[in-house]
Amino acid sequence: MSKSETEKPGFVIWLTGLSGSGKSTIADRLAKILSQKGRKIERLDGDILRGIFPNTGFDRQARDEHIQRVGYMASRLEHHGVIVIASFISPYRKARRFVRGLCKQFIEVWVKASLEECKRRDVKGLYKKATTGKIQQFTGLDDPYEEPEKPELIIDTEHQTIEQSVSQILDKINLFM
Ligand code: ADX
Repeated sequence: MSKSETEKPGFVIWLTGLSGSGKSTIADRLAKILSQKGRKIERLDGDILRGIFPNTGFDRQARDEHIQRVGYMASRLEHHGVIVIASFISPYRKARRFVRGLCKQFIEVWVKASLEECKRRDVKGLYKKATTGKIQQFTGLDDPYEEPEKPELIIDTEHQTIEQSVSQILDKINLFM
């Protein structure tokens, strides 16, 4: 890696959206492409973090603390020149705003698909579990998702391919690279 590559500033790409909207898939593709360009990348993902810290709950306080902690980590990595690609439902505006405030360059990407579409996909079978009462506080069903008001980008995964979504983000972040 050339010296100039290591000196480039970091930034935080924050993917928010319903479960099953496509956040992790898009984030993984993006990470692969950016690391091939020689940039330092860190992926932070809700399911992975929750796998490591399985006691993280889903009520508002637990979700907020989880997002605030992850956001702090993201901001520290950014400070060291890392491109952070974070994928979390992060349903509350206030917590997303808190993370935005910690980061220098925060690119909020709303990965948008309707609840009906996410239910139809139901990749992890969780919507079924939630509708049959086996899981409570499920985002979009019996727990809120506060839609971003002014995200840097909206990605419509219901009507476009993964490739189109990824290239839309790449176009946007070219401004910061
Ligand atoms: S967040 O709301 O705290 O930002 P996060 O992104 O970390 O959520 O984790 C969401 C993932 O947890 C979902 O993709 C899903 O796999 C799993 N999950 C399990 N229970 C729930 C629930 N009640 N609400 C939302 N996601 C859930």
